[in-house]
Amino acid sequence: MSKRVCITIDGPAGAGKSTVARMLARRLGYLYVDTGAMYRAVALKALRAGIDLNDAAALAELAASVNIVLTTDPREVTRVFLDGEDVTREIRSPRVSQHVSLVARAAGVRSELVRRQREMARGAGVVMEGRDAGTVILPEAQFKFFLTASEEERARRRQADLKAAGEEVPLARLKEEIKERDFLDSSREVAPLRPAHEAQVIDCSHMRAEEVVEFIISQVRRKTG
Ligand code: DC
Repeated sequence: MSKRVCITIDGPAGAGKSTVARMLARRLGYLYVDTGAMYRAVALKALRAGIDLNDAAALAELAASVNIVLTTDPREVTRVFLDGEDVTREIRSPRVSQHVSLVARAAGVRSELVRRQREMARGAGVVMEGRDAGTVILPEAQFKFFLTASEEERARRRQADLKAAGEEVPLARLKEEIKERDFLDSSREVAPLRPAHEAQVIDCSHMRAEEVVEFIISQVRRKTG
């Protein structure tokens, strides 16, 4: 690929964004930034510190002082380090998943993480994955995609991921969690979840991750040569 570009991948929980974004970054030799993992890391630290998750000022202060490092190895395994500690597994725990929306709605947390995300994208080809990558983090990105899938399908995928991690969770409960999180993410005041108006919306309910990646690469190649 001749030109290094910014690609944003947004969408609701469980649409398959992470798998697609990671594969895409590897295929293109780009940096992969999982912005959700950063919100999860801040949430984990806040929970451990016993901070009131409705205290936006305390959360902002914590976000400003936390050290977060994301790494992706050649096998596409992404690791997350919080103040030097590997928290890759812990940030996916039900406790963090249930509380992270509260942390992600704090304006001070968002501005701090957005600043860091923009810095990560500077000078490199990047696949930025999250909820506001195309609308807020990189509004100038050349390629913006918004991935969706039916609630049923998203719950099923979450269930399979959890099962692979050794956890059995009923589908109905996961559907409820997804609904609740969608509501919180799309109704919050700061950077609500919505597609950038120039984003291409892809319904991934009946597409494999490989197909979505191929589609995106074909779009990128068409325009960048
Ligand atoms: O994608 P995920 O499930 O790991 O995201 C975790 C939470 O962080 C979820 O509640 C949405 C929120 N989030 C956000 O508000 N903005 C982002 N750019 C990424 C995630």
